[in-house]
Amino acid sequence: MTQAADRNRAVWEQLYQAGNYMRYPVEQLVRLFYRHARRMLAPGALVVDYGAGSGNNAEFFVREGCRVIAMDISATALDVLQRRFMHAHLPAPECRLVEPGEKVMIPECDLLVFWDVLYYNDAETARTLLREGIAALRPGGMLMVNMPTPRHHFIANATQIAADTFEFRGADQQGAIMCTPGSMQALVQWCAGITPVEQGGFAHYNAERRAEFMHLVGRKE
Ligand SMILES: C[S@@+](CC[C@H](N)C(=O)[O-])C[C@H]1O[C@@H](n2cnc3c(N)ncnc32)[C@H](O)[C@@H]1O
Repeated sequence: MTQAADRNRAVWEQLYQAGNYMRYPVEQLVRLFYRHARRMLAPGALVVDYGAGSGNNAEFFVREGCRVIAMDISATALDVLQRRFMHAHLPAPECRLVEPGEKVMIPECDLLVFWDVLYYNDAETARTLLREGIAALRPGGMLMVNMPTPRHHFIANATQIAADTFEFRGADQQGAIMCTPGSMQALVQWCAGITPVEQGGFAHYNAERRAEFMHLVGRKE
């Protein structure tokens, strides 16, 4: 990983130390899971929740009967996640801290989820994570990923610093490095080895800021 990963880790550590970010998963993730992944996952199938944060999605997957490995670059996020499971009287998933500068080892899995995470990286890191994650997926396994469109306020209010890579100027994540493939066609190219089963988009508003995303669900043949 790159210098951007160090910088972004500091941003996330600060955010999780200031608040716990515990919500339940967004509607789009739940809908995509039920529509495409639920029926192909045998009981105890392994889900890797990459960039799990406070465990919003990990809790949902565990409640759905999946085994989960939660990976994150922020140790504080993984502490919050473990406390969350303790308070919910649920067995905590295995947590793996990702060290900036070290090669990321994504375990072999049936469902790989990159939700609200890849774009908090430079484009090179995001593409490396996708490549390594897809290599770790079992044949027939599924990938779920979302990315901001160029109209997302994160990108629209950022300064481009390299190909597909931006520095965010907004107050809450000042200085964070972000990326977007820019279009659905490019996202499909970033996910080489995956056959798309659903490509789409959604948006929500935070105050009056529009957060506009594209999502891709696909299968490894
Ligand atoms: C917006 S939060 C999303 C958390 C969770 N996926 C969700 O949907 O609620 C982004 C998370 O990604 C983590 N993250 C960002 N870049 C990462 C990287 N390169 N490797 C691992 N985790 C990363 C951050 O620490 C943070 O916890």
